[in-house]
Amino acid sequence: MLLTLEGLDGSGKSTVWEALRDRYPDVVFTREPTDSWYGDAVARSMGDGDADPLAELFLFTADHADHLSRVIRPALSEGSVVVSDRYTDSRFAYQAASLADSYLAGGRDPLEYIQEIHDAFTHPPDATVYLDVDPETAADRAGATNKFEHAAYLERVRENYERLIDRDPDRFVRVDATRPLPDVVEVVEDEAARLLGDEV
Ligand code: TMP
Repeated sequence: MLLTLEGLDGSGKSTVWEALRDRYPDVVFTREPTDSWYGDAVARSMGDGDADPLAELFLFTADHADHLSRVIRPALSEGSVVVSDRYTDSRFAYQAASLADSYLAGGRDPLEYIQEIHDAFTHPPDATVYLDVDPETAADRAGATNKFEHAAYLERVRENYERLIDRDPDRFVRVDATRPLPDVVEVVEDEAARLLGDEV
């Protein structure tokens, strides 16, 4: 069972992930970007306002490939439940927002292109909790500590998350993350208990 947490920066996702980690000691908790050297490369790219968006997509994707082989697949094959703070949907939502529509040849849709790349090798999540917050609140809470945390960009990211939910409604559980953080944590804990059921 692979459960992922997704949402805009400032949605409270990492706090929720920490609360779940305290509650489920036998579950493998992990995150993307990772703390490997691939994750360090991603952090460097995020710190570069002029980074090429396609190069950045492939750095995030390399970090994901390493995460899969080093953490996700071994844990799942041992029968562990895995909870990841961000996963493939973050690439589909964020890097599709970074790749302007005109960037790819032949008028290719960035979100579909990024999904195709992943389809060839990834392990899809079984369930995804999406912390839904408006871009203005998200940007205010996140405090613009990286180049992605601006309302106009996050608006595009949110539209991409909506496309993903429309395409795969059964996988996603939407949680209203504009509510106070303790309420959000409580709702996600209830949803996690339902989704993980007998697995934990
Ligand atoms: P975090 O806020 O969850 O620590 O994530 C770090 C930033 O990286 C956040 O702004 C979202 C961004 N990100 C992507 O753009 N693409 C990805 O694939 C991942 C995993 C994160």
